[in-house]
Amino acid sequence: MIFTLTMNPSLDRYLYIDELIPDDSIRVKETQEYAAGKGIDVSRVIKEIGGTSIAICPLGGSNGERMEFMLDNERVLYAAVRIKHETRMNIIVQSRKNQYRLNLPGKALSESEYEMVIDMLKTILRKGDTLVASGSLPPGLRPSVYGDIVKIAKSKDVRVYVDTDGDNLKEAVKEGPFGIKPNIHELSRLIGKEIKIEGVEKAAEDVAKKYGISNVLVTLGGDGSISLIEGHIYSMKPIKVKVKGGVGAGDSFLAGFVSKRDESIEDALRLASACGAAAVMNEGTTLSKKADVDRLIKEVELVKIK
Ligand SMILES: Nc1ncnc2c1ncn2[C@@H]1O[C@H](COP(=O)(O)OP(=O)(O)OP(=O)(O)O)[C@@H](O)[C@H]1O
Ligand SMILES: [Mg+2]
Repeated sequence: MIFTLTMNPSLDRYLYIDELIPDDSIRVKETQEYAAGKGIDVSRVIKEIGGTSIAICPLGGSNGERMEFMLDNERVLYAAVRIKHETRMNIIVQSRKNQYRLNLPGKALSESEYEMVIDMLKTILRKGDTLVASGSLPPGLRPSVYGDIVKIAKSKDVRVYVDTDGDNLKEAVKEGPFGIKPNIHELSRLIGKEIKIEGVEKAAEDVAKKYGISNVLVTLGGDGSISLIEGHIYSMKPIKVKVKGGVGAGDSFLAGFVSKRDESIEDALRLASACGAAAVMNEGTTLSKKADVDRLIKEVELVKIK
């Protein structure tokens, strides 16, 4: 079974307007809500392409309830840890020209609630499972939490992938996860120096060797990806698509990859690339669509460099 873990989910509320004008009353033409979070997005894409996963996340208050309702509607399986405080909300005001993102402050997760998430992982994970731990941490949790998550997964013989940034990623890699999926900026921050595309291969090799990570998937946005898997380097050019939005391309890439990784590395990479490209074809929060993935996968150019 594939599990995803989103420690810091949010309820994203989109307000569509024509224009944001000061001191005027603005008519909201449409509102839309969306259960957001990087692990949740991975689960959503896995579902879309015909797989199953269980999204683990702490959820609280009426926002948490609404998110459960939305996930139910989308038929995304989840295992929620009920927490005391309201799950945070982001308000995204989308005008014809601009997007204004208002991130409301999130409440801290208490130590006992954190322990519940850890208990959930210890109870639910079985040998041979996959865990994808993605995104930021809520206030109150130290970055070493990411190290703890990797340790628990590894102790259960679970393949754990981490997709996060900054200190969280630094703590996670110390425990040698099975995989990481940084974009080039996250990889630069991890090694503490700006990397250009020409330097990605070497940086991935260094990170893989230093921390014992066998799957280093570096995504390069519109420049494709370079992945180091079990000592081999694979490069994929971006599939040519009409780009409408970039949100969730990395999450979609990772969803495709983990869906097939246990069967075939090359098929996993092809599916990852198709899912990433399919995600950017859609506006806003809409992730990859299966029909696009099925069509685009035939166009993947995968090169095994060494
Ligand atoms: N413009 C594009 N054209 C084709 N494919 C793209 C494009 N942008 C992204 N992709 C695909 O999606 C993958 C992931 O993109 P990217 O590197 O932007 O992820 P990311 O920065 O982690 O995104 P996020 O965290 O928002 O999900 C790329 O490796 C590529 O396969
Ligand atoms: Mg990303």
